[in-house]
Amino acid sequence: MADEWNMPAGQLMAGKRGLIMGVANDKSIAWGIAKQCALQGAELAFTYQGEALEKRMRPLAESVNSAHILPCDVTRDEDIDAVFAALGKAWGRLDFVVHAIAFSDRNELKGSFTENTSRANFLTTMDISCFSLVAVAKRAAPLMQAGGSIITMSYLGGERVLPSYNVMGVAKAALEAATRYVARDLGPRGIRVNAISAGPMRTLAMAGIAGGRGLLSTGREWSLLKEDTSMEGIAGAALWLVSDLGRSTTGEVVHVDAGFHAVAVPDGLE
Ligand SMILES: NC(=O)c1ccc[n+]([C@@H]2O[C@H](COP(=O)([O-])OP(=O)(O)OC[C@H]3O[C@@H](n4cnc5c(N)ncnc54)[C@H](O)[C@@H]3O)[C@@H](O)[C@H]2O)c1
Repeated sequence: MADEWNMPAGQLMAGKRGLIMGVANDKSIAWGIAKQCALQGAELAFTYQGEALEKRMRPLAESVNSAHILPCDVTRDEDIDAVFAALGKAWGRLDFVVHAIAFSDRNELKGSFTENTSRANFLTTMDISCFSLVAVAKRAAPLMQAGGSIITMSYLGGERVLPSYNVMGVAKAALEAATRYVARDLGPRGIRVNAISAGPMRTLAMAGIAGGRGLLSTGREWSLLKEDTSMEGIAGAALWLVSDLGRSTTGEVVHVDAGFHAVAVPDGLE
């Protein structure tokens, strides 16, 4: 596999088997993380949401020699059951899971949160973007007999308000709380559960948020590093958390956003 990032290849993940959930295309955060794990020797399985997305993600999964490319719509318990049954049969054990899944009706990701949020989309957003982590962790844990690591993807909109993020922000707050509660349950079994709160990235999910471009440019201008969040940075943090390097970290939300989260008042407004 070509390493177009110039990220170091190595053996940090040699012998580890992981499930990657949430690759839609080569811009997906899940794909950036998958590439880094593969470069470090991990064996990977992938899920895709439906046939339309399978076309774009299958060649990616095959490029890292994945032998397990499975359908999974996380609103369907039977799909999640089938994925973990297949991995149990094929691998017998699992070392890590990358959960990089979120959804909300884009018509509600603009304007007033109070006025525009419907009950139906509130529940759908919470189901796909938060509950799915719980549903996945429940089924992954029995396969992690030797311990393991589960990571999910969050965003600063779960801690603070910003325009347009609306119900997705509420779902991210719930996701971060769910991360801590699942980490509590699974900690005694040596299974760590963490979230990465990433800065804005140009992905399909981001395209659904009104004013996404503004988030990108503000992120760059206000951040401590004065640059965009990089996929390399997100994938590097993910590698730390899913590998044994992260062995003492659980129930944590790690900000990977060029320092944006630390800023209260940007330069120029003092
Ligand atoms: N892009 C950003 O700026 C950014 C920043 C912080 C956090 N995140 C989070 O990162 C994660 C990955 O998003 P991304 O930006 O890579 O976008 P993406 O569109 O590439 O990935 C989102 C994934 O969610 C999957 N998904 C949606 N509904 C699903 C369902 N019912 N069942 C199974 N899968 C489903 C999609 O198939 C897709 O693969 C999301 O949780 C997102 O909120 C993104």
